This record gives sequence, C-alpha cells and structure tokens, in this order.
Amino acid sequence: MRTFLLATAAAIGLAGCTTVPAPAASAPPAQTAPVADEDARIADLVARMSLERKVAQLIQPQIGSFTAADMRRYRFGSYLNGGNRGPYGDEFAPASQWLRHADEMYLASVEPLAGGEPVIPTMWGTDAVHGHTNVVGATIFPHNIGLGAARDPDLVRQIGEATAVEIEVTGIDWNFSPTVAVARDDRWGRTYESYSEDPAIVAPLGAALVEGLQGRKGEADRLGAGHVIATAKHFFGDGGTEQGVDQGEVTGDIEALKAIHAAPYPATIDAGVEAIMASFNSINGVKMHGNKMLLTDVLRGELGFDGLVVGDWNGHGQVAGCTNTDCPQSLLAGLDIYMVPDDWKGLYETLIAQVRDGTIPVPVLDEAVSRILRVKMRAGLLDEFAQPSARPNAGEYHLLGSPEHRAIAREAVAKSQVLLKNDGVLPLAEGADILVAGSAADSIAQAAGGWTLTWQGGLELANAEHFPGATSIWQGLKDAAAARGGSATLSVDGTYAAKPDAAIVVFGEEPYAEFAGDRKHLGFSDEEGLGLLRKFAAEGVPTVAVFLSGRPMWMNRELNLADAFVASWLPGSEGAGVADVLTGAVPVTGKLGFSWPERCDYGPLNSPEGALFPVGYGRSLADTAPLRKLDENCAPLEQGPALDWYVNGRLADGVLANTASGKLDNLRGEAGGITAMGLDRSAQEDARSVTFAPGAALELSQGGGNSGYGYRILYAVTDRPEAPVTLAVGSGEPLDITQQLAVAAGKSWREMIITGACTTDLGPTLTFASQGAFALSIGTIVREEFADGTDCSF
Ligand code: BGC
Ligand code: BGC
Repeated sequence: MRTFLLATAAAIGLAGCTTVPAPAASAPPAQTAPVADEDARIADLVARMSLERKVAQLIQPQIGSFTAADMRRYRFGSYLNGGNRGPYGDEFAPASQWLRHADEMYLASVEPLAGGEPVIPTMWGTDAVHGHTNVVGATIFPHNIGLGAARDPDLVRQIGEATAVEIEVTGIDWNFSPTVAVARDDRWGRTYESYSEDPAIVAPLGAALVEGLQGRKGEADRLGAGHVIATAKHFFGDGGTEQGVDQGEVTGDIEALKAIHAAPYPATIDAGVEAIMASFNSINGVKMHGNKMLLTDVLRGELGFDGLVVGDWNGHGQVAGCTNTDCPQSLLAGLDIYMVPDDWKGLYETLIAQVRDGTIPVPVLDEAVSRILRVKMRAGLLDEFAQPSARPNAGEYHLLGSPEHRAIAREAVAKSQVLLKNDGVLPLAEGADILVAGSAADSIAQAAGGWTLTWQGGLELANAEHFPGATSIWQGLKDAAAARGGSATLSVDGTYAAKPDAAIVVFGEEPYAEFAGDRKHLGFSDEEGLGLLRKFAAEGVPTVAVFLSGRPMWMNRELNLADAFVASWLPGSEGAGVADVLTGAVPVTGKLGFSWPERCDYGPLNSPEGALFPVGYGRSLADTAPLRKLDENCAPLEQGPALDWYVNGRLADGVLANTASGKLDNLRGEAGGITAMGLDRSAQEDARSVTFAPGAALELSQGGGNSGYGYRILYAVTDRPEAPVTLAVGSGEPLDITQQLAVAAGKSWREMIITGACTTDLGPTLTFASQGAFALSIGTIVREEFADGTDCSF
C-alpha cells in the first residue's frame, strides 16, 4: 500500500479534499532504517502521544458504528468492516464508495493535533478470506479447503497477490487472512476456512498467502505497491475445539496441542506476517484473549513474533471477569488491538481510567502502542501521508475481478477438484449432449459459500446483480460443451425431452459461516441431489455428482448411485474451472486435505483409520477401478425432522420463514412487511430482530414436521404492540397474545411455551400476525415434548 511518491499537503489538496493532513515534515525517511533507528523513532512518537491517543490505537470499531467526526475526535488506530457492513450503510456499495470511505476516515485521522502531538494515520482491516469478497465484482477464489486440495503454494501466493491488489483498489490497508486453523473435527462450521486437518499441509499454504499478500521478505516492494498487511488467525486452537463447537474449549497436553494447532504459525512468522489474531476458543479452561502464557510467552517469546496481536470480535468480552467494555486482562495478557465493533466508547473510557489508576501499567500500554506503530511504519503509513485514493492501484476499478485474477481463480478451481469415483463417464466425451441438473448448478452464491458479500453468504444473492463478471458451474459447462461440438441443457429438476448422454448433478451445502455452520453429525440431509441421482440411475442416464461443500460429509448413498463423484468444495466465482477437469482439458490433480468419513456419525477422524478416503486421496481420470458398495445406514439422519427450528442464528434445514410475498432466507431480510435483522444476543447475530408493518405476518413452517411437540420460544418485545397481535399454531385458531406481549415489552429475554393447553393443533407452522406496527426479537425456537397438562406461558 505504500506510495513511492511523497504526497505533500498541496498534492492532497489538489486531490479535491478540503482537509489538509499534518505534513510529514518532521518524519525521517525511515523506510529501510535499521531496527535500532526504528525503535528510536517509535519511542519518540510514543513519548509525544497523549494517553487518550495511545489508548485509541488499541481500539478497533466497525464501520457504521462511528462517524468521521468520531474518528477526528478519538483517532482510532484501526477499524474494520464486519462481514455484514459496507460503507455508508450499504453492504453492496460500489467499490468507489469503499474508497471514498477509506479517504474520509483516513483524512479525519490525520488532521493536525494541538501542541504538535504526532499524528498517526488509521488503518482499515477487512476479511478478504477468499478474495476481496465483501465487494461486488471482486474475484472470488476457492475457500481454503479447496486450496488445501490443490496444494500448490505458488498458486496460493498468486492468489494473495491478486487479492492484495483488489483490496488496494478500494483503499483498504489490512487483511484478516490467512486462516491457518487445523480443523480436526469437520462438524465445525469453519472447516472450509482450514486448508487441511494436517498442519504440514496448512503451514506452507498459510506462509504462501502471507507472502502473496505482503510481498516477500527482503523484497523492496514488501508491504508496498500491490501489497497489504496480512493476519494469521486464529491463534491458536480454533480448529481443535471439542465436538467442533465454534469458539469452544480445547483440552489436552499443551505441547501436544501446540504440535498440531500452533504448528502453522512459525511458517507464517518466518514469512513475515505482521499481525496475528487471537482465537475465541479457550485452552484447558482459559480463554485465549486472556492467556498471557500463550499470547506472550509462547507467541512472542518462543515463536519470536514481533508484529501486532489483534483480538477477535469482542473476544475479550469472553474472558472470565470481562465485558465488552471492560477488560484490562486482555492487554495485560499480550493483546494489542481490541476488536470492539460497537462498544468502543465504553472500552476506550475504561482503558483510560485503568491506566490512570495503575491497573494497567504505562509500559504495558506503551509496548502495545509501539507494536502497532511498528507495523504501521513497516507498511509505510508513517512515512508518506497519502490518502488511500492517492496510493497505487486505488480507484483502478478494472483490477477488481480482472481477467488476470479470474484466470488464477479458474486455475485454482480446476486444481482443487478431487475425484473420488469414476466408472469411466469422465472425461465427458467430445460432442456429448449433457444435462446439468440441481439448483446449485447455476448458483454462484452457493458455489461461493460464506464470507461472500455478506457474513453468512446466502442463496438470496443473485448471479447478475451480485456477481457481475462471474461464471457459474452451469455456464462453464455450457461453454465447454459448445466449444467441443456438443450441447448442454440446464434442467434444475432433471427433466428432459431427449435422453442426454450424461447428466451432471450439482448439489451441496447451502452457505454458512462460523458457528451457524456447526453440525452435530456429518450426514447430509438435503435430498435434492440424491433424488436426481436416483432418477437418472432408474432412467439409465450416466451421472457425474459434483458436490459443493465446506467439509467432507457422509455421501455413501450418492457415491453408490453416481458413476463419477467430484468433491468440488466451495469454488467461488470461476465455475469454468469445474468444466476444465470434467472435460479432461486440465488433468485432475486435487488430493484430499481432510479424511473422508465412511460413517455419518463421525466427528474427528484425522487418520486413515475409519476413513473411506484418507488425506491425500484423489483419483486421476484414468483410474476407473470400481468403488465397493457402501453402507447406506446413517442413524442421525433417521431421527426425523429437526426440533431445533432456530438456534445459533440458523434456521434448521427444511424450516422456512415465509411471508405471503417472499422468502426470508435464514430468517433475514425483508418480505411482505416483515424486516428481519441480525441481532447479537450471546454471540454475533445469533438472534433476529423482527419488525412488523401493520398487517404483516411472519410464518415459520417445516415440511413434514412433527405434529405433536410443543414450542419453546426465547423472545423479547422491543416495541409494545399498538394493535392486536395473534399467534396461530398449525391449523389451530389464532391466539390473541397482545396482552401478554404488552406485559413483556421492554423487559429482557423471556420464554414463550406453547403446548396443547392453548391450541387445538401443534402442527409445524407458527404464524405471528400483527395488525399494527410491532417489533419482536427472536432468540431461539425449539420443538419439545412437554409433560401432559403443561400450561402455555408467555
Ligand atoms: C471472526 C474473524 C474475523 C472477525 C472480523 C470474527 O467473528 O472469527 O475471523 O476476522 O470476526 O470479521
Ligand atoms: C463476523 C463479522 C460479522 C459479524 C456479524 C462476526 O463474527 O466476523 O464480520 O459481520 O459477526 O455480527
């Protein structure tokens, strides 16, 4: 990001801005200064900073929760855009608005300060975890699980370079990537952010991404043009939690845990990573954000890390004895930057008070500030006071999703496909007429997964509107068929007029991120693909299953039925890479980075034992050896419809939130007078705030759902109902619950219990209807068998 021009105040003025940043006149040209000079320079700056400005360096709020005036007043050392925020309140804001926002905040951060206090530019961090995917039009690379199958560090380095350039286009300084988690239990919702269950595969790929993002050590343009600051995350143990529960507990002998979960860090540190993010998880009962032994003694002492440690999203608030606004423990343990998306003001004030009263010794504060300044200095931020739009690549919008970057992504897609079975249907014959089936085939949103435009990603993201320039898997197959003198027809439900030579069935997991993707078992319950494979088998049409997923899953039924099976992972925006391997244009070289389970109830596998396919498995097109018939029993899948209708911020598969005029995917969005928004109850967006326009209704339903169980609903009423509100269960008469909701108004979370005592039917639909304006928050909805005679309560 560093500019090679020394931007003067005049040049910045010419760029059309009214505010003039502090001139860099007194700043020595320290770009290549030896360490001792660096230290002296930093010490000088810190010595001249006020307590308030020092503490502000430690505070990282999210955009939308502070204004440019706040930035001018407080001078936050950094800020982030959360996965659900874009500049000026628009997640889908055009790239030019991202850049405009970067300039606005930067310029506010560098206005001269009274008394000659040094001015320290702010920096902006983002989650460009598979390309700069918060921004419409960016290249979307395969998620890490796919890159772990490709195992090509050079390619990962190129991905890092391309991503850095796209980040620079929008004026952003810092990327919260690579994730070097070693996922050891595929039930974890972040498995796809992990390259592999094997740290030896993770380490070189993480290091390569760091080099791509930041540039290589010793090279003149390191952290300069075409490069941004990288972050290895989440230190450490994120992939080792019990039962794969996100943000959970890791237990075991500390050296043994380090050997797996801390193993990738030395490689990224050697590669020069400037930032490391602390993990949400605890190790042997102690949350990492408060663990001095690991954050300081191990990370800085043993591993020799000299960059900055950034916290994760309110991760400090989870430390015993802490809240989001009060946590000296984290700083004392070795954290430098608190990621405090919304509660920044309270935290800022308590930290200042705690330095004043001696809870936090001044040298501890100064050390943290020095580490932050050192990274800024290395990134050139302290040398040239150049606003983001005046830096290299900024505003070069043609670089966002450029053909060169898309070509790298397409290569990565092709190299990440893993062939698990092939009876000879692949490669697709020249001139073949193929049918492409499955609702995922033409869905770029599904191929991209979580962390795509929104935090969770989602099927509501539309190809044309949200993914300009991208190629769906269907489009790639269509183009390839045409180029090879054959034809391709898209038929989502698999119907056809003329019998095709082969059918490609594209199906898989719907997008998710973080804990919303946690699962209790690895059985894949969505039967759309299975149904299509059964249908084609009955009709004698050879099939190729293309499975999109964020983890290996129990696929025995599909593996038995399909003539060929490809684990495609989450390939992203360049679906043509899938066609490249199915046609044989590119050899299939992908190898599993995770062991593939033979049994659906498996949690951890991590060894060839019990694996249907071990790490390293992947066929070439020539390998047509038959696959034995696999056992099709999966007890957890036979347990009937899900009872957890809405927990952990996620609607169970098969539970729909409908209003008369549209679908609220995962209980979010707007339809028929209902607006449902993410709300933090005990974790990020694990609850929903639902606003009703007069006459609007919220209906939740589960096809084939249980008719006997009652409902336990955790809710809060934020706006007292102004007119009658009813709740109808199944085909029962609507209950007037206005009075009960009025009583609940303004109080905190409470439970509503619905049993046979107040409705004649307990069918699988719940309809809240409001005649007037009204707002309700929903925390969880669970079906439950209540003892006979249990009363309803609100
Ligand atoms: C995630 C991090 C991410 C951060 C900022 C957290 O919830 O765990 O990986 O960088 O939020 O979005
Ligand atoms: C994510 C953010 C996201 C937020 C939602 C975090 O865990 O990392 O990027 O926007 O949750 O509140």
